Amino acid sequence: MKYKLVTTTKRRDLIDKGDEIVIDVWPEFMLHDAVANEWFFELYEKFPEFQYWLLDGEEIVGIGNSIPLSWEDKLENLPEEGWDWALEKGFKDKDKNLKTNLICALSITINPKYQGKGISTEMIRSMVQIGRKHKLESLIIPVRPTLKKDYPLVDIRKYITWKRDDGQLFDPWLRVHEKLSGKIIKVCSKAMKISGTISDWENWTEMKFPEKGKYIIPGALKPVEFDIKKDVGIYIEPNVWVEHKL
Ligand SMILES: CC(C)(COP(=O)(O)OP(=O)(O)OC[C@H]1O[C@@H](n2cnc3c(N)ncnc32)[C@H](O)[C@@H]1OP(=O)(O)O)[C@@H](O)C(=O)NCCC(=O)NCCS
Repeated sequence: MKYKLVTTTKRRDLIDKGDEIVIDVWPEFMLHDAVANEWFFELYEKFPEFQYWLLDGEEIVGIGNSIPLSWEDKLENLPEEGWDWALEKGFKDKDKNLKTNLICALSITINPKYQGKGISTEMIRSMVQIGRKHKLESLIIPVRPTLKKDYPLVDIRKYITWKRDDGQLFDPWLRVHEKLSGKIIKVCSKAMKISGTISDWENWTEMKFPEKGKYIIPGALKPVEFDIKKDVGIYIEPNVWVEHKL
């Protein structure tokens, strides 16, 4: 591999620098998931060997977050609540001292300076490497199909079947998984829930929401629903469960 893989076990000092890149790259509203707010930063404390960076010298190329899980059922029965479920379950499994058999990807972010150079593949390979090191059976990922944001009105079940003329999947991020022999298990339609007041959403999006209804928001994979009387906007993000056998 061209870049050096390091985990939090060795380099706690990279947490803040990595976080700056994540804040810069992700749409603001995506940083306000309630389950994430409760648990995400604990990942670096409780699961340091599952949080990693690829480094080019001392520069961060990519940031990867993952968590081990215990799952005895078929992967077809993984929950609709995808990402939110996985993050919370990882911590509960650890509290109960359960034997884990899966590694679940929570986030992969590439430094914009290094995007478009095939590094996402290296990031997934690194996660596979970490999972193998811990003798886990599969890497599962609630994948956020990156170009779905341009088609917020299309049903994700249809979207994930779209193909290019060359027969490969249309969505670039799903395509990266396809090329690495990742298998689409199923859609998880409630992978993340992001809820805020009207004023929160106005700050996050620099838009206005004067009336009750559904709004298309840049970066969101489907419309966000607003109720002005209740002073709430709710976004339920759909993702896709993908498996890479280790
Ligand atoms: C999505 C992301 C991880 C892709 O990483 P990357 O290293 O830049 O992507 P790669 O260079 O490996 O490209 C993978 C494929 O996506 C395509 N691609 C890359 N950037 C693209 C863009 N902005 N629009 C459309 N396609 C794009 C590439 O052409 C390639 O397609 P190919 O199969 O035809 O070769 C990166 O852009 C990122 O960090 N985005 C923000 C965070 C995010 O969305 N993470 C994913 C969800 S966890």
